[in-house]
Amino acid sequence: MSELEIRNLHVRAGDKEILRGLDLAVGKGEIHALMGPNGSGKSTLANAIMGHPNLEVTEGQVIFKGQDVTAADPDERARMGLFMAFQYPISVPGVTVTKYLRTVLNAHREARGEEPIPLKEFRLSVEAAMKLTDVPKAFSSRYLNEGFSGGEKKRMEILQLALQRPALAILDETDSGLDIDALRVVANGVNSVAGPDLGLLIITHYQRILHLVQPSHVHVMYQGRIVMQGGPELVDQLEAKGYGWITDEIEKVPA
Ligand SMILES: Nc1ncnc2c1ncn2[C@@H]1O[C@H](COP(=O)(O)OP(=O)(O)OP(=O)(O)O)[C@@H](O)[C@H]1O
Ligand SMILES: [Mg+2]
Repeated sequence: MSELEIRNLHVRAGDKEILRGLDLAVGKGEIHALMGPNGSGKSTLANAIMGHPNLEVTEGQVIFKGQDVTAADPDERARMGLFMAFQYPISVPGVTVTKYLRTVLNAHREARGEEPIPLKEFRLSVEAAMKLTDVPKAFSSRYLNEGFSGGEKKRMEILQLALQRPALAILDETDSGLDIDALRVVANGVNSVAGPDLGLLIITHYQRILHLVQPSHVHVMYQGRIVMQGGPELVDQLEAKGYGWITDEIEKVPA
């Protein structure tokens, strides 16, 4: 059974229907890429999977680890092992990186019935994750994402991924706005946490990250649905031909 299964998902924001019957399954240990034109609903899907309160699911289900989490709140989903790296990470003035990471880690431990993380163990894991993601140690005492450059915010998201070790991670354009070295750092970070226990859904516009973190499945989203699926070869086809050939086909068929 798939770790994450989305069945016929319809989602509205206000009076606009954004997801219009979307199906997607991500198995344990699989790497999936989700591509599609601007505004096709990729971030909305990611937010809906995480349980964003501004989105209303009008039909369909989100099943995670065999449980229907469609109505679960975001916190509960996170504790179950769902993780999302945001397209636009927000800053949290007044909360230092260290404080934030410790709070989140301990919440996860508590959900598993474990004691809070001992200070020394915490320090060592954060140091390892910082090294992995090339985040300077001095960032520990800065407020989360406050004044961070675009690339620093994205690396901070991967640092959290490395620390939290979720069962399923969604990366929403974590590769956007990265220089070549930072892209490698992010890709190495992702590859180091990838493995048989992690399902990955990588939302991206570019083939470059998908050459470093190789997906087994590629999905194309258009107007709130998955309209094409394939293997890694689809990434190169899209790079070469754009989305026009797919959308032309779809618009020929009445919905
Ligand atoms: N809260 C909202 N209220 C109204 N419309 C919304 C809301 N959230 C998203 N939308 C609309 O839904 C559509 C899909 O947005 P979404 O951010 O999911 O696209 P995307 O595929 O992630 O695009 P991009 O590649 O540019 O990141 C857009 O037209 C957007 O304006
Ligand atoms: Mg988006």
